[in-house]
Amino acid sequence: MIVTIDGPAGSGKSTVARQLAQRLGFEFLDTGAMYRVVGLLWSQGERTDSAAIEVSRNVVIEFHDGRVSASGKDVTDEIRTEAASEAASIVAAIPEVRESMVRLQRLAASGRDIVTEGRDQGTVVFPKAERKFFLVAAPEERARRRFEDLRSKQTDSDPDVTEGDVLRQILERDQRDQNRDVAPLVPAEDAILIDTTQVDVETVITQLIERIQTPSR
Ligand code: DC
Repeated sequence: MIVTIDGPAGSGKSTVARQLAQRLGFEFLDTGAMYRVVGLLWSQGERTDSAAIEVSRNVVIEFHDGRVSASGKDVTDEIRTEAASEAASIVAAIPEVRESMVRLQRLAASGRDIVTEGRDQGTVVFPKAERKFFLVAAPEERARRRFEDLRSKQTDSDPDVTEGDVLRQILERDQRDQNRDVAPLVPAEDAILIDTTQVDVETVITQLIERIQTPSR
């Protein structure tokens, strides 16, 4: 079975998807991390579209025990900085980069029970997924979560970043993700919308499991 969870940054989809996969005994695929890897490597070199395409075609992205590596190098923390978020959002708008990622994502899911999260999992990558969810939350709440996340990891190089800065960056990235030509961030027509603004993770997971266990029409 394929379960897709899409939504904007800070909607809670990563936490929810990871834990849901654990509960169900399914694999978990963090497709945002894949775009982050490409963005990170691209930002360290020549920042052209063709360089990003080249990276996306050649990099070997691996997930092991919650760690992410890019062609053998552990980049788990590096890909979570604001700079990497920004770079990921830029390279994610390049059609050829998306083609490479989509191919890898379908390969990763092939023959498996999987919970996959991102922006286009229910619309483009797995249009026939058995269950599709789209998580949303108020921008201020999303910024608050992201800010706390950055603080707790202390990975960001700029300690002066405020919650207001994070909100502005989130809104900018939402704009870019929602308005790009290829695979924009929109719910699939058959996705179930869940607003997580005032709901804790446990409750969201319970709702999702109920929906997954209810036979589809
Ligand atoms: O979910 P995230 O914040 O880790 O995603 C990082 C960026 O990658 C974000 O700007 C949107 C983009 N992305 C995408 O375009 N498609 C996906 N399936 C996953 C992420």
